[in-house]
Amino acid sequence: MIEVQGVSHQFAIGKKGKERIVPVLHHIDMRVEQGEIVAIVGRSGSGKSTLLNLISGYIRPTLGDIRVMGQTVTKLSEGQWADFRLAHFGFMFQSFQLIPSMTAFENVELPLVLQGMRIDRRKRRASDMLERVGLAEYAGHYPGELSGGQQQRVSVARALVLNPPIVLADEPTGSLDSDNERQLLRLIGELNREQGTTFLIITHDEQVAAVGHRTVTLQDGRIRPQTNGNEFDDLATAHVRF
Ligand SMILES: Nc1ncnc2c1ncn2[C@@H]1O[C@H](COP(=O)(O)OP(=O)(O)OP(=O)(O)O)[C@@H](O)[C@H]1O
Ligand SMILES: [Mg+2]
Repeated sequence: MIEVQGVSHQFAIGKKGKERIVPVLHHIDMRVEQGEIVAIVGRSGSGKSTLLNLISGYIRPTLGDIRVMGQTVTKLSEGQWADFRLAHFGFMFQSFQLIPSMTAFENVELPLVLQGMRIDRRKRRASDMLERVGLAEYAGHYPGELSGGQQQRVSVARALVLNPPIVLADEPTGSLDSDNERQLLRLIGELNREQGTTFLIITHDEQVAAVGHRTVTLQDGRIRPQTNGNEFDDLATAHVRF
């Protein structure tokens, strides 16, 4: 489903002519099969978000190739990659970027409108999705009239409404209380079982990692070889440090 082959990435920071090169990822090889839920963990700054941004094509790797569903996406033009992303990926981020002048319902419906889905189907799909995230009664509310956790759930519904085969999530439970977190994890499990949706989830949260079929640990920009030890030993230390 997703193959990351020999990917390295470095950022150039600072003024032109005086850039400093910051290597962030080193020789990443990773394979994710269809229907897997993979938790990506690692200390702050280890390169987790960069890896997800490379897979989704928001940034291009300095070296190496990425294949998604058989397509070498790193060879696509910007425009082709944007189309590919729309058709194959759903995104769950900590910041939700809802459109403030649209109601919860309209925000969720928007990707279906853009896709050109017929009105009756699209109304049904959007309200079903809002119901699945527990917001049926809030359909007519604007983002400014919702709590942070509710806004995040609207953004989750919007990410999932097109039934993307792959969902990339960066700390998706960051601003949720434990009830809402449990509900989101249940939804992830359901979509995975019902539709075979593949999930890549960055998390610092042990409960979230537990829904993963396996865990990939990044350490200083490299994938740490699997050990039998507790993946969270490092994170526990990280929490003390930050
Ligand atoms: N656009 C950028 N320009 C320069 N450096 C960057 C850029 N984005 C990330 N970095 C650097 O790359 C490293 C990895 O960042 P990344 O955001 O991937 O970490 P992360 O594992 O997601 O951390 P966190 O858990 O804090 O979100 C960091 O040292 C960061 O400063
Ligand atoms: Mg990050």
